[in-house]
Amino acid sequence: MCGIVGYVGTKPAGSVVVEGLRRLEYRGYDSAGVAVVDEGVARTLRCVKKAGKIANLDKELADHPLPLTGQGIGHTRWATHGAPNDTNAHPHLSADGRVAVVHNGIIENFAALRAELVAAGIPLSSETDTETVAHLIGRLLDEGVDLATAMRRVCVRLDGAFTLVAVDRDTPDLVVGARRNSPLVVGVGEGENFLASDVAAFIEHTRDAIELGQDQVVQITSSGVTVTDFEGRPADVRPYHVDWDLTAAQKDGYDWFMRKEIYEQPDAVANTLLGRHSKEGKLVLDELRMSEDDLRKIDKIIIVACGTAFYAGLVAKYAIEHWTRLPCEVELAHEFRYRDPIVGPTTLVVCISQSGETADSLMAVRHAREQKARVLAICNTNGSTIPRESDAVIYTHAGPEIGVASTKGFMTQLVACYVLGLYLAQVRGTKFDDEIAATVAELEAMPAAIQSVLDGIEPVIKLAEEFADEPSVLFLGRHVGYPVALEGALKLKELAYIHAEGFAAGELKHGPIALIDDQLPVFVVVPPRGRDQLHDKVVSNIQEIRARGARTIVLAEADDQAVEPYADLMIKLPKVSTLLQPMLAVVPLQVFACELATRKGHDVDQPRNLAKSVTVE
Ligand code: F6R
Repeated sequence: MCGIVGYVGTKPAGSVVVEGLRRLEYRGYDSAGVAVVDEGVARTLRCVKKAGKIANLDKELADHPLPLTGQGIGHTRWATHGAPNDTNAHPHLSADGRVAVVHNGIIENFAALRAELVAAGIPLSSETDTETVAHLIGRLLDEGVDLATAMRRVCVRLDGAFTLVAVDRDTPDLVVGARRNSPLVVGVGEGENFLASDVAAFIEHTRDAIELGQDQVVQITSSGVTVTDFEGRPADVRPYHVDWDLTAAQKDGYDWFMRKEIYEQPDAVANTLLGRHSKEGKLVLDELRMSEDDLRKIDKIIIVACGTAFYAGLVAKYAIEHWTRLPCEVELAHEFRYRDPIVGPTTLVVCISQSGETADSLMAVRHAREQKARVLAICNTNGSTIPRESDAVIYTHAGPEIGVASTKGFMTQLVACYVLGLYLAQVRGTKFDDEIAATVAELEAMPAAIQSVLDGIEPVIKLAEEFADEPSVLFLGRHVGYPVALEGALKLKELAYIHAEGFAAGELKHGPIALIDDQLPVFVVVPPRGRDQLHDKVVSNIQEIRARGARTIVLAEADDQAVEPYADLMIKLPKVSTLLQPMLAVVPLQVFACELATRKGHDVDQPRNLAKSVTVE
């Protein structure tokens, strides 16, 4: 969602801020703007903002360059209050143009604040909630209050979620930020400091960062950083070093981040497994920070997540229940707290979130903690809010995921869930050590297996070309193949903007089979041939849809001759046990969606209407 950058230092703030915004583009946005302090004879604030992509802002700045001064803020906006146009774009200025403010989040009591301003005769020019904050701060500055104090006094009046960053024309060498339920990190440089929604914005200048806590206000100058709570009391902060660099956040020769991230999956899996098991195949999960005794007391697991992360949770349910014999529920995070779930001290709530900032998931974590559950985060973003508010965290080591549609994030979430399930089975003694070691060995072999799927991906790329004009595609699967079908459909919807549905293959005859039409493309995930009848049942489902005219694209084990006769195209997967098959089956579906969307001319890194971290509920 909205991206925020603030800078104080000796470099030209306009360029630093706009470059930072470019690195935050992946979060999703529909307008962009920047404000810098012009230190000319009369100090002024220069604010430029444009609807649309940063390219529009660039054009405006090329025609009307900013002064080369070192104090500024900027913003990419993902519209919540008011249409995405130039007026509603951030920054917003106070009535006299003295202070500029950018904001991420939603101020829930903004209508009341707006009414108060209107009653005081202050004209509002935009439809945004943010503008009210600019005026409230402006009024306090007019009374002689300093910028940080004004920020604190305004923050305590706000309901909802917000990151705010402000700059004051009349206070040199200062930018002030604040956060509640929305991300803000500090980049600590030499003779310069940064504020940003995430580290990607300043990683080319510094890899030293400070994590801000909830309800904190930060002041950055070129030589220092001061953090307080909303009452002005000095606050504890956690400095950390970012362990990836700019190259990890660049395209590295690929034309799209998404394509690059799909091809990074073998490494991402290997990195996520690294150090989490011994040579003998015993799981090592020190980061759980729960004693084995505590883990044995757990009587239920609830996984909460949204979107793709939720589908990773659905896969995890099959594995965790099978290995641990513990009941495992999976719930959309935004539904969880509203249904009065049965949660207590012996429940382990697992929140899966790539960004660690998804507001719906964060609220589920808070609800679980209020109910005294133990909360474990599975997360890819070091220092983000969800792991910080959880009892423990298993970090996935996927590296930065820039493409809005999650790919390597999903893959490594699966790995983390498998590791967790196996570890619980080990501690609780529900699986023999040699069975656990065999599954660990299989996981260790997955990077090579995923690579072989990618090496043989050409037929999928051709298929995407062939299907580029299809209005609708269905995806079917059973058991762990069902969440894979859901994920395949979600990828196609969000990237190619075409109708796509995922169904449990067994459910077909209860309704969805009515959708099967002549030539309708249907992807089917076929489970490996095992001892149960799962495989044969799916083969029967394929026959049923083929009989009704569907074109079947079948993802199955390479030597599965039982299904081959019923496949218009068979995408051959390496042999693997059923529970781990999603790690292979999802790859062709990611590639299919990415290739089909690019054939249609869509931006696969920033699909329309979507944001990378959804920081509003
Ligand atoms: C889809 C996608 C989203 C996210 C969801 C949760 O490709 O990326 O559905 O999975 O918004 O995001 P995180 O994992 O950051 O909590």
